[in-house]
Amino acid sequence: MNKNLVSLAVFSAFVALGSQSAIAAPDWSKAAKSTVHVFHPGAAPIEWLQGKGEHSGASGLKKGEACAGCHVEDGKLSLDLKRLASKEMEPKGAPKTMTYPVTVQAAFDATNLYVRLTFKAPAGGFDKSDKDNELKATVMFPNDKVPLGDQAGCWAACHEDAKGMPKSKDKTKYVSGGAMDLVQWASSGKSSDGFVADKRNMTGGKAGATAEGAKAGDTYTVTFTRKLAGNAVLAAGKAVPFGIAIHADNAGGRFHHVSFGHTIGLGADGDVKAAKQ
Ligand code: HEC
Repeated sequence: MNKNLVSLAVFSAFVALGSQSAIAAPDWSKAAKSTVHVFHPGAAPIEWLQGKGEHSGASGLKKGEACAGCHVEDGKLSLDLKRLASKEMEPKGAPKTMTYPVTVQAAFDATNLYVRLTFKAPAGGFDKSDKDNELKATVMFPNDKVPLGDQAGCWAACHEDAKGMPKSKDKTKYVSGGAMDLVQWASSGKSSDGFVADKRNMTGGKAGATAEGAKAGDTYTVTFTRKLAGNAVLAAGKAVPFGIAIHADNAGGRFHHVSFGHTIGLGADGDVKAAKQ
């Protein structure tokens, strides 16, 4: 090998190493893939879900059952989507595509948890009020002080008096105890590191979270990086509850597709399995 070639080889090895440690990205080809189905939830706040007459899951919820325990069977949704699109549950208007699959992968190291979502976002939305962003993808992690956090996931923060709800008092998401870490990627290029406590905060998150995303053809890939430390404290050997929300086709407010509460097992069992890298 001539001298120039050798230095080129050394140089590119160095660049490869350098860029790898800068973003510390896990090797996604080694991360197991899980499928989570997101769906348009209509206006089904936690108060509705806990109200016995209307939601027959209410008593199960009180006994400690998780939404996904009743509504996800063999990885598929067991949910009446026609009802969710009807005037009973969706007074304004539903998107044409009520549900779609999201591939979820995760990995962790001594400092961070990495979560990657891969999905095709459907057109045919009803609400297109976010002119700046064709798409926003968000993940939330309730800590163990959030009432129903591990059972209800994001629903613990979804209330009937929230903005855009039929009984709205223009509040943002909130939890009645504890806090949820929130990290969002918006297709305009912005990444938000926030949290939900007495209100939703899009900045000031404790998990030092970042998000990156890209669209290739019709497929989005969004990667979230957060510290194991945060409002929700993550640790190897434990499963952490989380939820996904995707605003597709310029949707704003509550017109997102969401997941039930799921778990990421950090070197432990979970709906999504994160191995240490
Ligand atoms: C113990 C089982 C159980 C649990 C736990 C449960 N549900 Fe349900 N849920 C049901 C059943 C059964 C129905 C359908 C009949 C009805 O509306 O009561 C239903 C209906 C719904 C509907 C209306 C659409 C439909 O299929 O009729 C939504 C939305 C919903 N549940 C969301 C949730 C969420 C979110 C949680 C967690 C906060 C949850 N459920 C917890 C059993 C459950």
